[in-house]
Amino acid sequence: MLFGKTILITGVASGIGARTAELAAQLGAEVIGVDVRAPSQHLASFIQGDISSADGVAEIARRLPKRLDALANVAGLSGNTGIAQTLAVNFFGLRALSEAVAPRLREGGAIINVASIAGYGWRANLDRAKRLTSVEGFPDVEKLAAEHGLKNEEGYPLSKELLLLWTMRAAHQPLFKDRGIRVNAVSPGPVETPILQQFRTVLGDARVDSDITRVGRAGTAADIAPAILFLCSDGARWINGANLATDGGLEASINAEVLGF
Ligand SMILES: NC(=O)c1ccc[n+]([C@@H]2O[C@H](COP(=O)([O-])OP(=O)(O)OC[C@H]3O[C@@H](n4cnc5c(N)ncnc54)[C@H](O)[C@@H]3O)[C@@H](O)[C@H]2O)c1
Repeated sequence: MLFGKTILITGVASGIGARTAELAAQLGAEVIGVDVRAPSQHLASFIQGDISSADGVAEIARRLPKRLDALANVAGLSGNTGIAQTLAVNFFGLRALSEAVAPRLREGGAIINVASIAGYGWRANLDRAKRLTSVEGFPDVEKLAAEHGLKNEEGYPLSKELLLLWTMRAAHQPLFKDRGIRVNAVSPGPVETPILQQFRTVLGDARVDSDITRVGRAGTAADIAPAILFLCSDGARWINGANLATDGGLEASINAEVLGF
């Protein structure tokens, strides 16, 4: 499915990113992994880098080859390190890396953003999401959070709300659209990776357990990786600006309850 493609994948040292890198290689892709930590599995190509700052993103971009087929933005934080760091990694760093990589992506290439069901509040919080996604470049996130009165506990859901809104915006942004680069999101529910324990602290056991009960089990990294890689593939050529719920039916179950059908 991915033979001959070069795919840049962030967050490869753990969980969903690690499994996505492994599967991409099995499907024929050449994988370039990025993570702030060194991965334990062997990767043909790995860049140790930090997407939480403009300098970190620039350093990663400097080390990339001239041509790439896709970027899978998987790296993320749970919110337990505070709102500034969470917004910096989950949104502003991800967006800065995507913008830096865009000129190297071939025509018809793809960007896949791993968002979350936790970001589905973007419609209810639309004005805030519009304001914050309109901030260009890589802002001083600490200052931004203070100016907008953002609370630490909002960090994770807010970062994913911004990411879902930006995914739709980016699909129509000339930087990507003019060269046929598709921008899509994948939104998992709870997935058994190291971050899940942190979500229990940030979101509470009740929320996590209720989500798992609705669909019978937590997802695994192996459940999410194929969805990310399908969106990287040419089979997804007519899918753009979309969010693919990859959650065992969790969104449908919540919609049924909230909307009463
Ligand atoms: N696991 C879940 O329940 C779940 C649910 C919904 C969405 N997600 C999303 O899936 C993505 C992957 O999460 P995961 O479950 O694999 O978690 P994980 O903690 O296992 O992996 C996250 C990876 O991101 C890397 N990373 C963190 N900060 C970084 C930085 N500044 N620069 C570069 N790399 C950095 C970490 O080192 C780690 O390897 C995240 O965006 C997360 O928000 C996870």
